[in-house]
Amino acid sequence: MKTIKGKLLLWNGLLLVVVLILLEFSVYYSLKKILYQDIDTELRNEAMEINGFLHVVNNRIEFVNMHEWEEFEHQEVGANAIFFQITSFLSLNKIRSRNMELLGITLPDHPHSYKMPKNARVYSDVNANGYWLRELEMPIYRDGKQIGVLTTAMSLRNIKSFFNAILKIFMIITPFTLLVLVVGIWRLTQKALYPIEHISSVAGEIMKSQNLKHRIDIRDSAQEVQQLAGTLNSLFQRLDESIQKIKSFTANASHELRTPLTIMRGNIDVILAKERTKEQYQHTLKIILDEVKKLSRIVDNLLTLSRSDAGQTILEKNVLRLEELIESCQEELQSLIPPGEQQLHLQYERGLEILGDEAWLRELLFNLVENAVKYNRPGGEIFVRAYSENNRVCLEVRDTGFGIPEEELPKIFERFYRIDKTRLHSTEGSGLGLSIVKWIVEEHEGEIHVESQEGKGSIFRVEFPAVSYEEIAASYGKKSVRSA
Ligand SMILES: Nc1ncnc2c1ncn2[C@@H]1O[C@H](COP(=O)(O)OP(=O)(O)OP(=O)(O)O)[C@@H](O)[C@H]1O
Ligand SMILES: [Mg+2]
Repeated sequence: MKTIKGKLLLWNGLLLVVVLILLEFSVYYSLKKILYQDIDTELRNEAMEINGFLHVVNNRIEFVNMHEWEEFEHQEVGANAIFFQITSFLSLNKIRSRNMELLGITLPDHPHSYKMPKNARVYSDVNANGYWLRELEMPIYRDGKQIGVLTTAMSLRNIKSFFNAILKIFMIITPFTLLVLVVGIWRLTQKALYPIEHISSVAGEIMKSQNLKHRIDIRDSAQEVQQLAGTLNSLFQRLDESIQKIKSFTANASHELRTPLTIMRGNIDVILAKERTKEQYQHTLKIILDEVKKLSRIVDNLLTLSRSDAGQTILEKNVLRLEELIESCQEELQSLIPPGEQQLHLQYERGLEILGDEAWLRELLFNLVENAVKYNRPGGEIFVRAYSENNRVCLEVRDTGFGIPEEELPKIFERFYRIDKTRLHSTEGSGLGLSIVKWIVEEHEGEIHVESQEGKGSIFRVEFPAVSYEEIAASYGKKSVRSA
């Protein structure tokens, strides 16, 4: 029984059998106890009464008055009849009630009854000449000496047939109740598990048809099942989104790689068509070299992003001073600006420290300044600022270029995203720079904010968390180990 249904049925069924049998046992024994208690009380009262009427005359046990002897219940032989028997140790004879004589029964002698403590009362079920009786034995004491045994008894016929009837009822009811309950459990389990089966069949269909737009719809089911369906639906949605992203990423990547390749191929075709001068060959090779550079930049960027996706890039973070980083990049940044076109201004507070990977932070700064140059107007300005604010260290790149429309702001960090207007200005780029910037910022537990005004310029502000003393200590520790 490997299915949930089978297991539920088996365990519930077993539990029910145990509970039912326990219940029947307890009903049977409590009824028995109650009925026996009633009989025992009656037997005891009768014995006490009879004992009070006994006296010893001429070494014989006799009744004080014969009234008790003649009492009705000792005459009759029906279900409520009370029997009694006196065994005398003095005259070694037995006195039996009239009804016993009528039925011809004698209560059996028990060895223990010849020597009983004064207060002893012994109850037992006995079979006297084929009659089942409940009897009570009680010693007869006179002058501190046991002179006989008084036994009172009642028929167990009614009780026995009552319990036989109960047992029969139990034997009929038990399998019937179990059958009804097991069928009930089976139906309930089927009903409860139906939504799960439905979910699994829908999920199976989705996997088969590979249509991740399909959703599981079970609005009337229990809360837990709805939760499960909700979780699966959002999983399908995310899977769908990821697959769409991968598809457009592949399409974009191939498109970006094809453009320089087409340019190179066209130029090579043209140059090889006929004999050329040395200058013409040099010119074409320069064009090809530029395209190769573009290609290798795109491939580098793609590699960076796919490694970051796979979590394979390990950053080597140390405590860095921002001024040192900016100063060391200054020449490289300046080289991005075509001579005489734009102005680069560097303004930074001294002593600003962050915990970061120097190579990747250079890449970040390079990408932001490259954009500020590319999307600037001729004669525009670029400001690189570093300052601290609200216990955070900020690195800001501002330009006086054509800005970014507000509706485009959320999209510019997406891979391969370029604003259409940008394309019109025919600036080069593949739309990967800001995705890499965003990844570097996240790896440094920072945040990036953009403010932009169309026609006026943009501000890209990166906020890094300030360095703690522990991080500074750990970083110096690392340096000393390395230098050692
Ligand atoms: N300073 C800026 N001013 C105006 N638009 C910008 C600025 N920086 C980025 N953008 C817009 O955001 C887009 C995405 O920038 P991103 O740096 O990711 O790509 P790219 O510069 O086009 O290409 P790549 O950086 O991969 O060479 C750009 O194409 C441009 O439209
Ligand atoms: Mg860029």
